[in-house]
Amino acid sequence: MNIGLTYNLFIDKTLSDEEPPPCSDEYDSPKTILAIENALKALGHTVILIEADENAYMQLHKLKNRLDFVFNIAEGIPGESRESQIPVMLEMLNIPYTGCGPLSAAITLDKAVAKKILIAHGIKTPPYQVFNTPEDELDSNLSFPLIVKPNGEGSSAGIEKDSVCKDEIVLRKKLKQLFNKYKQPILAEKFLSGREFTISLIGNGEDLRVLPIMEIAYERFPKMDFYIDCYEAKSIWCAENGLEEAVVAEDRIDSDLKRRLSEIAINSFNALGLRDFGRIDMRLDEKDNIYVLEANPLPGLNPDPKHFSYFQVSCRVAGLSYESTIESILAAAMKRYKFYTNTSHKKIIKNETPLTVQKKT
Ligand SMILES: Nc1ncnc2c1ncn2[C@@H]1O[C@H](COP(=O)(O)OP(=O)(O)OP(=O)(O)O)[C@@H](O)[C@H]1O
Ligand SMILES: [Mg+2]
Repeated sequence: MNIGLTYNLFIDKTLSDEEPPPCSDEYDSPKTILAIENALKALGHTVILIEADENAYMQLHKLKNRLDFVFNIAEGIPGESRESQIPVMLEMLNIPYTGCGPLSAAITLDKAVAKKILIAHGIKTPPYQVFNTPEDELDSNLSFPLIVKPNGEGSSAGIEKDSVCKDEIVLRKKLKQLFNKYKQPILAEKFLSGREFTISLIGNGEDLRVLPIMEIAYERFPKMDFYIDCYEAKSIWCAENGLEEAVVAEDRIDSDLKRRLSEIAINSFNALGLRDFGRIDMRLDEKDNIYVLEANPLPGLNPDPKHFSYFQVSCRVAGLSYESTIESILAAAMKRYKFYTNTSHKKIIKNETPLTVQKKT
């Protein structure tokens, strides 16, 4: 097949504290793009690289008749619902692609909207309030400690070691900082102090597979007042100590908890319209109730074991090589579109009828 690989390339640029850094931090390294390209080539495909910049639509339009499929890892150009940009273009051009569609990409990038959908599906998520200014009155139903985070970011942007506020004075100060830097609504959430898990999934419908569950190894973290898997933990501490140090595999999770976490992960994946692959973060409260913190429809695919990508750690623990991971994501997407393949994916027969993916609620 001719496969387009849509991505945004990470450009290392030093920013001032006031400059909004957000989404370029999530862009992919040349190493990741090359690794996916090589994996797709090893599976017998021809790969066409497409940078998801302002010229992407023109390029996709030009390639429309040559492309059989697109493997999409693009985070989009800064702006509202940026992760929907490439899916929207592909929908317009009727090119099949991996991963979630425009609506799901937009929903999951807006943490408050995603929470509303989870709640509507009976899935617990921490009580919260959206601040549109740093002075908004605090909802009296919320109790401290509260964690604050930009409503529309990922990769722990704006979630730092001092993001948990013990009282309103700290909250107001932190809100001001976040508004100055991120210039968007800020979410304040009840801080949950229990165990934290991250759950990666591959597939769709009946074939949706929960990969080995990872638990954040807070006992190995440097001392913190409130333990959170913040930006510093992911980018500095993990880089120094290796990512595998930050998580522990599922052996210490008892079977009942594992079952409940898996069930909530599947329900959240389906409720939020994720497709082919994804990662759901969850945390327990002091009574061991499970809450969903957020869902990631485009978890990182960086092949470097030192780079923080919990999805990749889960795949490695599941015994999936990098190539098999890429193959599994592509196979899930192709099955969704009802492409039939032989085992090496070299011979593709297009089927006209779209496959209905059964949604679990
Ligand atoms: N309500 C909460 N209670 C306790 N800890 C929380 C809460 N919300 C966030 N955290 C901590 O902050 C971390 C990052 O938060 P979250 O997952 O919402 O951000 P993100 O930027 O989307 O993350 P990712 O890096 O997974 O994309 C969580 O993994 C968790 O450790
Ligand atoms: Mg997260």
